[in-house]
Amino acid sequence: MSRISLSPSTLLAPVPVVMVSCAGKDPRKIETRPNIVTVAWAGTINSEPPMVSISVRKSRHSHQLICDTQEFVINLVSEKLAKACDFCGVRGGDKYDKFEEMKLHPVEMENLRYAPAIEESPLSLGCVVKDIIELGSHDMFLAEIVSIAADPALMDKNGKLCLDKAKLISFSHGEYFKTGEKMGFFGYSVASKAAMKRRMPGKTVKKKEAGKSSVKKERSAKSDPTKKSVKTGKKK
Ligand SMILES: Cc1cc2nc3c(=O)[nH]c(=O)nc-3n(C[C@H](O)[C@H](O)[C@H](O)COP(=O)(O)O)c2cc1C
Repeated sequence: MSRISLSPSTLLAPVPVVMVSCAGKDPRKIETRPNIVTVAWAGTINSEPPMVSISVRKSRHSHQLICDTQEFVINLVSEKLAKACDFCGVRGGDKYDKFEEMKLHPVEMENLRYAPAIEESPLSLGCVVKDIIELGSHDMFLAEIVSIAADPALMDKNGKLCLDKAKLISFSHGEYFKTGEKMGFFGYSVASKAAMKRRMPGKTVKKKEAGKSSVKKERSAKSDPTKKSVKTGKKK
């Protein structure tokens, strides 16, 4: 099969699209009031300490705010927030109070001094900037996650975070998408029948997936990153 050659571009897909909230040192001034910028160039870059990156153009109003305080909050986007997310990606914070326009609420974020979280987001990551790398069109902010705030509705009765309940959206080639149905979990290709039954109830286990070559015993918490993550997520 021959494949078509396309010119190099930012076609990694799907990617998360997030609402990054920030503020300057004086939230009462228009220039430094709490703001939201939509970012698709975001990613996890380290496990210990937990770190993320966001790439932001120098021309964005938020770029200045983040440089001034060295703080920002990454707010995950649910289906309910999709329109607000798009709006915050097409209007500048120098002209619009995006919290007000979208009827969103800035709330204090643990371990941060200036940047607020968006109360309506299912999960917010408080970030402190560690480094800024100038790449060309965008500056990449490398940041440590210093706090997490989650909607209590996402926790099960054992205190485990169930992020699948958040109805998060993704971004692919210029378009927003709902998250699909769960189809597996970390290591499911080699999981035992028992693990499949427990983690994917209702899914028929085919011999190929959990037959002869499958791992007989479930891996210990030490070797299975999914077991280590009790409250906030998976470690990779
Ligand atoms: C889906 C989407 C993704 C975006 N991703 C980025 C991004 O990764 N980096 C960036 O600098 N701008 C990105 N933008 C553009 C900014 O969000 C947009 O210019 C915004 O109005 C800037 O707001 P500000 O001037 O208040 O900071 C994106 C916009 C949309 C709609």
